[in-house]
Amino acid sequence: MKLISGIQPSGNITLGNYLGAIKNFVKLQDNPDVTDFLIFVADLHAITVPQDKQALRKNIRSLVATYLACGLNPEKVKIFIQSEVPAHPQLGWILQCNGYIGELERMTQYKDKKERQTQGVSVGLLTYPSLMAADILLYDADAVPVGQDQKQHLELTRTLAERFNNKYGDTFVVPEPFIPEAGAKIMSLAEPTKKMSKSDPNPKGYIALLDDINVIKKKIKSAITDSDGKIAYDPVNKPGVANLLTIMSCCSGSSISDLVEKYKDSNYANFKEDVANAVVAEIEPIQAKYNEIINSDYLDKVLDEGRDYAIYFSNRKIQKVYNKVGLGRKTK
Ligand code: TRP
Repeated sequence: MKLISGIQPSGNITLGNYLGAIKNFVKLQDNPDVTDFLIFVADLHAITVPQDKQALRKNIRSLVATYLACGLNPEKVKIFIQSEVPAHPQLGWILQCNGYIGELERMTQYKDKKERQTQGVSVGLLTYPSLMAADILLYDADAVPVGQDQKQHLELTRTLAERFNNKYGDTFVVPEPFIPEAGAKIMSLAEPTKKMSKSDPNPKGYIALLDDINVIKKKIKSAITDSDGKIAYDPVNKPGVANLLTIMSCCSGSSISDLVEKYKDSNYANFKEDVANAVVAEIEPIQAKYNEIINSDYLDKVLDEGRDYAIYFSNRKIQKVYNKVGLGRKTK
């Protein structure tokens, strides 16, 4: 099974992203059914909404370093930057010419983002899913691990692939969505009924993977709990304590019920101290690895190799597509 997935380069990856998504994603590379695995930074997708130039550059590199630091292994996964592979926008254009405005206007993500746009809605925001389809179809991917929110885009990818195949003859593999098993849902430390989010205006609500270790400890110690004083897993009545138990379970590998048993006579201060230590034990090695590679030639080597593989593979596909459509002069 060949997998491909794109990740948007937004800054500040949180503990919630890590425990909820990245950890499971990294596990996929060891799945024996996975024969090829491609991951790219979707920087061309990022500019469908306004971006600060410096921040974008920084986020692209930082994202790759973070995923590597979290355990993505470049011997098993090809990692590259979308904008370094010209066939993506090339095929994106062809697919735009085979998609209908109505189809794109129906996309929920487009409708949501359009509402939030204050500086005008770019054409790219509308045509975003045809570029996403190109990302996938260039590589003959069988399956695309994405979150639930991307399922509609994947349906459109299948429609575009089938339409093209019917019109021009068999060209693309029609991919399946592949929603990886959901990881833990980590809630805000300040408002434990809301999901932990990097866009939370209150930085006490989230832990960024790259937060200073002492800041992480402080944030956990000041996490909102309740006045009941008992450590029990009850997400409805004791959401703060339940969230800390979930976090600790994910970081330590102990089950929630074992933790409840262990801390049943403990107080919140001691419990939080242990949660903080468990989180730090998980994050510290990630930070060390991140710092080691963020400015290294190693990171560039990984990205060069990924880019070369992607260019080789995708150029053959785009030539085939150009020939089928009748563009330019016939190439062999
Ligand atoms: N649209 C995806 C997101 O916002 C990112 C993405 C772009 C992607 N191209 C892709 C995901 C191709 C999977 C495959 O999360």
